[in-house]
Amino acid sequence: MKRYNIAELQPNMVLAQDVIDEDKSVVLLKSDTVLTETLIGLLRERGITSVPILNKQTVLQKKYQTSVNHVRQIFDEARHSNKLRVNDFQSIAQDCIKDFIYKPHSFSILKELATKDNYTFEHSVNVGILSGLIAHWMNFSKQDIHQAVLAGLFHDIGKAKIPLSILNKPGKLSPEEMAIMQKHASLGYDLVVNLEDIPLSVKMCSLQHHERNNGCGYPASLENNDINKFAKIIAIADVYDAITSDRVYKKKTTPFKAIQIIEEELGKLDPAIGNVFVLNIREYLIGSRVLLNTNECAEIICWNKVIGSLPILRTASAQYIDLNTQKEYQISTMP
Ligand SMILES: [Fe+2]
Repeated sequence: MKRYNIAELQPNMVLAQDVIDEDKSVVLLKSDTVLTETLIGLLRERGITSVPILNKQTVLQKKYQTSVNHVRQIFDEARHSNKLRVNDFQSIAQDCIKDFIYKPHSFSILKELATKDNYTFEHSVNVGILSGLIAHWMNFSKQDIHQAVLAGLFHDIGKAKIPLSILNKPGKLSPEEMAIMQKHASLGYDLVVNLEDIPLSVKMCSLQHHERNNGCGYPASLENNDINKFAKIIAIADVYDAITSDRVYKKKTTPFKAIQIIEEELGKLDPAIGNVFVLNIREYLIGSRVLLNTNECAEIICWNKVIGSLPILRTASAQYIDLNTQKEYQISTMP
């Protein structure tokens, strides 16, 4: 939180506390109000000289948590009835696009926003945002970016019909439990198939996001062009977020390792979409700090454009290391 003079205020800044008109002892604007030109004019008229403003990270954290809470309510309602509040999903999708898709650093901070105890709901929001980013990187139209975000938010809605004892089990599922869990794809499709105002591709994503290009996926072992294009995008966002998330039974894997896993899986995951994803995610990792197996700290400086290649690093002692050729060095962790 920082105080800003009235002349420094900009639209979209968010108030960190109530603003009080001292003379009249009334609250002029409440905490969390998003400022507009009109509201800034009102503050000026009332003689307010400075106000406390939330920092951008806090604003994004609040917006992210609001989306996660809405997704939780939609899942809860779907669990107890078969009703789905489609309009709420549409407005969450719009908020995700506004707050994350066109913001250059949104991806980098996505993982800092997660709280660890809301996995299913945070995962839905993360997959929505990541899918929208992939669609944006693939130069999709605004309408298709919206569809990708919506499909990501919806993709695991079938989990609302999976028993909580299986969904939240803190450990590996038995084969029988896994078979029940895998039903979430067709259960999700059943929930959305008759909804109006939801594009068919979004509905197909609920059903097909675990299908794989080589036919090893479920529920129908579809291959290549039989799988909806949006479902292929969701599949990559889904795998990446699952690998890089903390779970009760596993610590999260670094984005660096997640990229390697996705590169190894290309063939099952769509190679063309996967290439776009990997090349763009690598850009976000430039400048990240890593810890090497030698216990030295280093920074990722650049990557070449070849899929499967490793980055070039600069250590704290200004030594350059090319992980592609200097095999004695490996990245241990990303602090
Ligand atoms: Fe799923």
